[in-house]
Amino acid sequence: MKIENICCIGAGYVGGPTMSIIAQKNPHIMVYVVDMNSNKIDSWNSDDFDKLPVFEPGLSKVVKEVRGKNLFFSTQIDKYIDIADMIFISVNTPTKTSGEGKGYAADLKYVEACAKRIASISKDDKIIVEKSTVPVRTSEKIKEILNSNTKNLRFEILSNPEFLAEGTAMRDLEIPDRVIIGGDNTVGGKKAIDSLSNIYSSWVPKQNILTTNLWSSELSKLTANAFLAQRISSINSLSELCEETGADIEEVSKAIGMDTRIGNSFLKTSVGFGGSCFQKDILNLVYISRSLGLQRVADYWEQILIINNHQRDRFTNKIVENIKIQNLAPKVLLLGWSFKKNTNDSRESASIYVANNLLNKNIGIDIYDPKVRQKQINLDLSNLNSSYNKSLVNIINDPFLNISNYNSIAIMTEWDEFKNFDWEAVYKKIKKPAFIFDGRNILNLDLINKIGFNYFGLGRN
Ligand code: NAD
Ligand code: UGA
Repeated sequence: MKIENICCIGAGYVGGPTMSIIAQKNPHIMVYVVDMNSNKIDSWNSDDFDKLPVFEPGLSKVVKEVRGKNLFFSTQIDKYIDIADMIFISVNTPTKTSGEGKGYAADLKYVEACAKRIASISKDDKIIVEKSTVPVRTSEKIKEILNSNTKNLRFEILSNPEFLAEGTAMRDLEIPDRVIIGGDNTVGGKKAIDSLSNIYSSWVPKQNILTTNLWSSELSKLTANAFLAQRISSINSLSELCEETGADIEEVSKAIGMDTRIGNSFLKTSVGFGGSCFQKDILNLVYISRSLGLQRVADYWEQILIINNHQRDRFTNKIVENIKIQNLAPKVLLLGWSFKKNTNDSRESASIYVANNLLNKNIGIDIYDPKVRQKQINLDLSNLNSSYNKSLVNIINDPFLNISNYNSIAIMTEWDEFKNFDWEAVYKKIKKPAFIFDGRNILNLDLINKIGFNYFGLGRN
């Protein structure tokens, strides 16, 4: 089937960038990205390209190039469902907050709502692509909903999970390690796989497009994230061991990573991984395993999250204890709120948890981030603790303005600008004694020691 019109439901961190690239690489296909959030759609349509709802290096350039030609953002969901030959479901699948599986299972209500809408609006056969990250066998549920239509329509379901990482999304989309397309092993299923494959092959080499059955595709996505997160928790657990033994985590990490069987990616110690997906996908994996009676398997994967929480807590404790021992002013400058550099996304950022821990100890925090807006920071804090002490929080636009007020600085996100600060100048102005807590190990230890800072880096000696 030759695809002429694509509709993507969900104009978020995945839907926006992914469809921008698909449109750019396939100028003959009309791509309509729809969302029920009209503010978000307005921002995608803004003439000020700094106002796009997603900040990703390189994104605004692509949107500028294709928006209004073959890429459109709209709230007219039904209209574009009707027009499309292929529909991507790219909506959020957060952890359930109530009902069966609360706190663990993925909430599929948004995915199911899309399937219901498609079933009710469609007037002809369509290919439905599951782009959201979902539990294994979700496509079965989607199929059930779609096939309950009374119009005798035929829907082919594909699973095409997304592997982009925020901050590098455009590069990840341009040169993906692999594209996975799962589908049914039937004539219709194979044709649908070919249709989607053809779209990707406009820019992805054929050998990087992997076709599988539906369940393998769904499970590969969940487990890829679990493997990545597992490496971070492994290295983070070792950072604590390093602090106790005098080994240096940066040296250990390098030594481990030079083994080509292990590889050097995702071995950077941190104050804990954040982002909207690692935690929710592992919780989901734990839930699936437990539901199947695989208690040991569930416990194994859950340990990744236990270490992640522990890393955030022990980082906070270092700051709190230091304030107590040194009898310092109870005030900390937090540098960075996004969960990693080069994104404006703060979902599940370690900063939120560390900030909350500090506030619980009545320690004031001044927060600076180059991209996350004040409104979002307040929202993140109140979502975690609706009665947090607002009088202890200042969100600042210039970290240097009141630098002479602090004894303690915590680096939470590895933004390049923090690495490139004139730390010597900071040291001259900051209150003494001056302490840096480097939650990302981004600073040059020799230089910082030479300048005179008291330094705590994770697993660094
Ligand atoms: P997001 O929250 O940024 O965007 C989802 C959008 O879907 C929202 O704008 C929401 O308004 C919209 N939406 C929800 N239900 C809708 C409906 N019924 N009709 C119309 N619009 C609806 O989420 P995201 O980060 O883009 O993630 C989407 C999915 O992709 C998730 O399953 C996630 O696990 C997965 N994923 C995310 C990333 C990432 O880096 N963020 C990477 C790979 C996979
Ligand atoms: C992650 C995966 O890398 C993507 O492949 C996947 O598509 C995506 O989740 C998803 O499903 O949402 P993302 O969360 O955007 O992407 O960013 P990562 O680069 O994976 O970083 C996640 C967190 O781990 C960040 O807080 C980062 O700082 C931290 N991290 C990463 C470390 O602490 N150490 C590392 O070595 C690497």
